[in-house]
Amino acid sequence: MLVLNFAHRGSLTEAPENTLPAIKKAIEHGARAIELDVQLSRDNQLVVIHDHNFRRFNSTAKGLVKDYTLKEIKTIDVGFTFSEEFTGVSLATLDEILEICPLDTILNIEIKNIPVIYDGIEVLLYNCLKNHNRLNNLIISSFDHEALQKFQTLAPDIPIGLLLYYRILKPWTYAKNCGLNLYSIHPLQSWTDKELITESKKLGLKIYPYTVNDKERYKELIDLGVDGVFSNNPEIFTLP
Ligand code: G3P
Ligand code: CA
Repeated sequence: MLVLNFAHRGSLTEAPENTLPAIKKAIEHGARAIELDVQLSRDNQLVVIHDHNFRRFNSTAKGLVKDYTLKEIKTIDVGFTFSEEFTGVSLATLDEILEICPLDTILNIEIKNIPVIYDGIEVLLYNCLKNHNRLNNLIISSFDHEALQKFQTLAPDIPIGLLLYYRILKPWTYAKNCGLNLYSIHPLQSWTDKELITESKKLGLKIYPYTVNDKERYKELIDLGVDGVFSNNPEIFTLP
């Protein structure tokens, strides 16, 4: 079975997560797949960041990502807290990342809704991908399954990944009946077990747990039959 591992937020141990340097590091490592998170600025630009605020990167930037224009976001240094070497690094737009990302690298773009819900992010994302001729080698995922539904209506041919955080009962039943035409399930790794893997496979779905940084746990999950994992660890995301 062909395993596919994702560099989670780029190579986040080597550069500030989700930024161009982190994506470049993952590419340099030869990652076959990269995950990143998208949100919207106040002026509806797609920016790549995980948290809804800047606190982890820059405590002087108050408030939420959605309250800043892209021009303002570009003035925020999100690199210096990682290390001096990255002083001056700002968040990337999705446009900027698509420009440097090889077309054969599989991109998992997570729509980072909840608790903030970005109205219209689905169509902006689809248009951005179309403008870059980047409609292949993609998986769009979200914990906001309504966002997935909206995206799938716009782009029925682009694979959709169902993100799950809570240990809900029989997630495969939900996956089967939720009305989405799913490509994959992305569950939290800690509760991913044989039954979930087997039942997902019965539905013809790939299963990619997140986030697996420990090599023993990685091996355990691969032996159980997952199709790959999301990892912060270059020793894992460069496998096999
Ligand atoms: O897409 C897998 C993983 O990134 C989901 O969780 O919180 O790291 O975005 P989170
Ligand atoms: Ca993510």
